[in-house]
Amino acid sequence: MTLRLGLLGAARITPAAVIYAADAVPEVSFTAVAARDHARAEAFAQEHAIPSVAENYAALIARDDVDAVYIALPASHHLGWVDAALAAGKAVLCEKPLSGNAPALRSLLQKGYGPMLMEAMHYVYHPLWARVEEILRFGTLGTLTELAMHFSVPHIPPGDIRREFHTAGGALLDLGIYGVHMFRRLLGDPLTVASANAQGVIDQVDERFRGVLTHAAHPGLTATVTASMSPEDPLAAWLSLRGSEGSLQVQNPVAPQLGHELTLTRKDGELRESVDPTPSYCYQLQAFADAVLRGKRPPTDGADALATAVVLDALYEKAGLPPRPALER
Ligand SMILES: NC(=O)c1ccc[n+]([C@@H]2O[C@H](COP(=O)([O-])OP(=O)(O)OC[C@H]3O[C@@H](n4cnc5c(N)ncnc54)[C@H](OP(=O)(O)O)[C@@H]3O)[C@@H](O)[C@H]2O)c1
Repeated sequence: MTLRLGLLGAARITPAAVIYAADAVPEVSFTAVAARDHARAEAFAQEHAIPSVAENYAALIARDDVDAVYIALPASHHLGWVDAALAAGKAVLCEKPLSGNAPALRSLLQKGYGPMLMEAMHYVYHPLWARVEEILRFGTLGTLTELAMHFSVPHIPPGDIRREFHTAGGALLDLGIYGVHMFRRLLGDPLTVASANAQGVIDQVDERFRGVLTHAAHPGLTATVTASMSPEDPLAAWLSLRGSEGSLQVQNPVAPQLGHELTLTRKDGELRESVDPTPSYCYQLQAFADAVLRGKRPPTDGADALATAVVLDALYEKAGLPPRPALER
């Protein structure tokens, strides 16, 4: 069985997220790429040995030799093309965030499309994350008291899709989404916003964001997400979990292939581990193939993305900022 993938957009992330990842997932092949600019699509196809170029996004979706599409566009543009692809009977792997806001995603899910829809929250599929959840499941940390996740990526230039409101920019939506998703995975739904603060806001776009979440089933616990695309903050990604019996620090839970470390500290000692240098994208693509070809439901489906979007919208609202746009085609 082969899964024939079409690439919607010639995005920067596409080679790492799916093209190189497919080396590890031989049942995935690529049929065609489409970009707004045909010449750019041609150049992308040549560079990455994609056999053909579709005239535009709609033409890509309409092709009989495309079983599924990978969508990597500005967050504002995801949902319109997800809708079109699902309506055409194609399975979809869409970059995070699946939608600029929750209500638009809720409306899409209510249409009840049949094909598989998966949000590309790749970290979940890596064995490092399975190890984090295993440590928690065994009660190794005791009663959880404090969770924190930080993700900062400096040098995002002016004009980047992450810095424009109309392309659903913002540090929370682009980077903080990982922390919110991790907290949801570890604590379950619903999370409640205790406080939220956006800094460096230009045209409604947050350069830095700090949000504190709580959960009714964990009295006294706080879960703090911080995200930054300020040039003053160094590149960093970490997760910290504290409990009554110990703590767990995870360096780089987002892209473990770039180096990661897990440190478990308890009264009886400290344990340092690294798990697997394989890119998270390889595991994600295998999960997508398993979902489409074998009906194995992925943990980051549309409903999961909606639950995350609800929290992100609430954080923006608490910080006095509007939800991000989710455009129709
Ligand atoms: N999973 C991860 O690790 C990861 C990492 C980075 C990014 N991402 C996600 O992937 C998506 C794309 O990110 P990227 O960094 O790859 O973006 P990008 O290359 O800057 O843009 C992606 C595509 O969006 C289209 N585009 C760019 N600017 C646009 C505009 N102003 N209006 C309309 N369309 C525009 C272009 O499509 P054409 O090629 O058709 O012109 C471009 O190829 C985002 O949702 C981001 O959050 C995920």
